[in-house]
Amino acid sequence: MKYFITGGAGFIGSHMVDELIKEGEVTVFDNLTSGKTDYVAHHQENDKFKFIKGDLGDLSHLKKAMKNYDAIFHFAANPDIARSMLETDLDLREGTLLTYNVLETMRHNGVKKIIYSSGSGIYGDVGTTPTPEDFGPLLPISMYGASKLSCEGLISAFCHMFDMQGYIFRFANVVGKRQTHGVGYDFIHKLKENPKELTILGDGTQSKSYIHVTDVAEAMLFVYKGSSDKVNVFNVATDDYIDVTTIAKIVIEEMELKDVRLHYTGGNRGWKGDVPKVRFDLDKIHRLGWRAKYNSTEAIRKSIREMLERE
Ligand SMILES: NC(=O)c1ccc[n+]([C@@H]2O[C@H](COP(=O)([O-])OP(=O)(O)OC[C@H]3O[C@@H](n4cnc5c(N)ncnc54)[C@H](O)[C@@H]3O)[C@@H](O)[C@H]2O)c1
Repeated sequence: MKYFITGGAGFIGSHMVDELIKEGEVTVFDNLTSGKTDYVAHHQENDKFKFIKGDLGDLSHLKKAMKNYDAIFHFAANPDIARSMLETDLDLREGTLLTYNVLETMRHNGVKKIIYSSGSGIYGDVGTTPTPEDFGPLLPISMYGASKLSCEGLISAFCHMFDMQGYIFRFANVVGKRQTHGVGYDFIHKLKENPKELTILGDGTQSKSYIHVTDVAEAMLFVYKGSSDKVNVFNVATDDYIDVTTIAKIVIEEMELKDVRLHYTGGNRGWKGDVPKVRFDLDKIHRLGWRAKYNSTEAIRKSIREMLERE
């Protein structure tokens, strides 16, 4: 099998490379904006691995690069959810349009399978209602969520119009080694700068599922091999949830700090567009036979240790 991985030098993409290289040949296509060649450097000597520095915005380069592949794992997107407050077309350009370019190139080059990294943001703010994959109406509250939802729509349309097959994964918050952003990452960096005080966005009660990146890569491959609908949509999360204040306490403990003052900016959400409580219905993926190895607390603790390079 030959796999083409957009954003394969990024956090989740590089872990997917680690899994897929056991299965076949892997080409990473990445513009290195948030990704790093270091994240895939351990495959450089492997004949089954190829790295292409390229931007998905460059359609003609993409058409030349994506030839003779069995499946496309598409991870490349803007990772900064809050930035669209300042740049309202960011997720349109660095999300929706990139996905269109990937699909159009697939159509042009006759590639039939796309595996896409969507997220819980497509569900919008529905409080503590556990959302199954067929939940609706889908009303995102961020540009990022809106872009993810429009990408899902484009994938479904291309699959039906051009005889392709799609796998759409709605992830919880993903954590682990090579993380480039996220709450744990943010807290570590703030505490390195000032070990006496930690500023927490919101009131600390925001609670979500945090899943370890190795579980995510494994789930994607498991579903890809085990589900065969035209468009396969799956939630990927842990069964449990953890709040932001608890995450702060774990980070403080793991950094072996004492007497850190927690300062809250207030309000029930971290920023405009942040969904404070996220709950998944995981029945579909459990029925297929997959469950996360680490729960949210374990995944957070493991990721903090990995970011502090203690594991
Ligand atoms: N991290 C999470 O918690 C999470 C949750 C749900 C969904 N996702 C989605 O998973 C995907 C991967 O996220 P991540 O956390 O690994 O982020 P990341 O920033 O580490 O990875 C994105 C990669 O895409 C590359 N890239 C960005 N724009 C590009 C372009 N125009 N052309 C080529 N390459 C480009 C970056 O250099 C980077 O390597 C994203 O689509 C993200 O929205 C992430």
